[in-house]
Amino acid sequence: MIKNPYNPTGPADPRYYADRDELLSIFRNNVKAVTVTKGITKPINLAVIGQWGMGKSSTLYKFKDILENETDGARIFSSYVSLKPSNCKNADTFFACILETLFRDYETTVPLPNKIIQFIKDESVRLNKWKLKKAGASIPEFERIEEDLSAINFKNTLLQFWTKLKESKFDMVVIMLDDLQYVLSQDNGEILYDLRTDMQSLSMKGALFTFVICTPENLFPHMRTVAEPFTRLFTQHELKPFDIRGTTEQILKPLDVEKIPLKLSKTAIKEIHEITNGHPYFISLAMKHFIDKIPEGTLSANKFEALYPDIMEYFAETKFNADFEKATETEKEILFKIVTLKEYEFSPKDVGGRSKISYVERLVSKGLITKINRGKYKIYTPLFADYLLLKTDEPAK
Ligand SMILES: Nc1ncnc2c1ncn2[C@@H]1O[C@H](COP(=O)(O)OP(=O)(O)O)[C@@H](O)[C@H]1O
Ligand SMILES: [Mg+2]
Repeated sequence: MIKNPYNPTGPADPRYYADRDELLSIFRNNVKAVTVTKGITKPINLAVIGQWGMGKSSTLYKFKDILENETDGARIFSSYVSLKPSNCKNADTFFACILETLFRDYETTVPLPNKIIQFIKDESVRLNKWKLKKAGASIPEFERIEEDLSAINFKNTLLQFWTKLKESKFDMVVIMLDDLQYVLSQDNGEILYDLRTDMQSLSMKGALFTFVICTPENLFPHMRTVAEPFTRLFTQHELKPFDIRGTTEQILKPLDVEKIPLKLSKTAIKEIHEITNGHPYFISLAMKHFIDKIPEGTLSANKFEALYPDIMEYFAETKFNADFEKATETEKEILFKIVTLKEYEFSPKDVGGRSKISYVERLVSKGLITKINRGKYKIYTPLFADYLLLKTDEPAK
C-alpha cells in the first residue's frame, strides 16, 4: 500500500499544517495572555482573510488543535461553525445556527461539569422548540410555554452561558465562523451589525469570547462598507500564497510526519513552487498526483520534467474544467480577452468597458476573478490563466 498523505479536498491535517507562523503566534499568544491573566488581557478577534484554497479552514482546524494540545491546563470552550448559504438567510437562522453548533459540536480542554451539560441541554431544547415554531408546526404543548421564543437572543444566551462557564472556572470561549461571506452574498449585511453589537456587549460585560472569522479577500473591502464598524473589531490577517520556504514546508512536512521515503531535489521543489505559484491547494493537488506516480525514491528534476505535461491535465480535470463550465458564453469571452492582455491585472475598460462590469462582478462571485481593489481585477490564479491560454491555442471546434 502506498501512503499518500496529501488531501487537497479537506482542511489540512494540523500535523501537516505549514508556515503561517505569524498568525499562529498571534493566536497562541493571545490565548495564553487571556488565560494566564484571567482576562485582564482581553481576547482579540481575528479575521483570517484569503482567497479560495489559501488555507482558511485549515487554519481554523489548526487553531482547534492548538487549543486541544498547547494550552497548558487552561479551561477553554471552543466551537467551529461552518456556515452555509441557507444558514445566512436572516439574522434568526444565522444566530440559531451558531448557537446550535456551539451546543452540539464543541470541544473543551477539560471535562464539562454537569451544571454546564444541563445548561446546554436546556438551551438545545429551547432552540428546537423555536425551530419547530418557526417551521409552523403548531404543537399546542409548546405554545403554553411562552418564553422568549419569538427571536433568537444571541447575546443573552451567550452571556448566561458565560456566567455558567465562569462559575466552573472556565478561562475563555473561542468561536470560529468559517465562510462568513455567505452573509454578504445574500445582502444580509445587517446581520453583521447585530453580531457586532452583541460582540461589543459581551466584551463590555467582561465575557471572554474570541471570535475568529474567515472570508475571501475580495469580500472584506465590501464588508467594510456594509459594516465598517464591524471590521474594526477584528485583527485582520491575510493568507497569501506561500513563498519558497512555505511551499517547501508544505511539501516536506507530511513526508516527514508519515516517514515516507521520498526525496525531492531542491530543483523539483522549486519547480512545484513555480507551477503552483505557492498556492496551497495546488501544491497539495500536485503532490497528491506526484506521490501517486512516484511513491518512493527520489523525485529529481528530470523525473519531474517527465511528469509536467500530466500535471496541467490533472489540474484541468480536478479543477479548471469545472471552473470554466461555471462561466456563461459572454463570461468565457471576457476570460479569453483577459489572458490576451499583457498584464493579468485588468480593469473593466480593458475587457469592453462599463457594459461588461456586471459580467466581471459575476465572475468574481463565481470565484474565477479576484477583485484586487477599486476597479482592479485579476484571474484568481495564474494557473487558470495558463489553462485558458492553452484553450485558446486549441483548434476551433
Ligand atoms: N498551511 C497549510 N499547510 C498545509 N496545507 C495547507 C495549508 N493551507 C492550505 N493547505 C492545503 O490547501 C487545501 C485548501 O485549504 P483550505 O483550508 O480548504 O482553504 P480555504 O478554506 O481557504 O478555501 C487544503 O486541502 C490543504 O491541502
Ligand atoms: Mg474553507
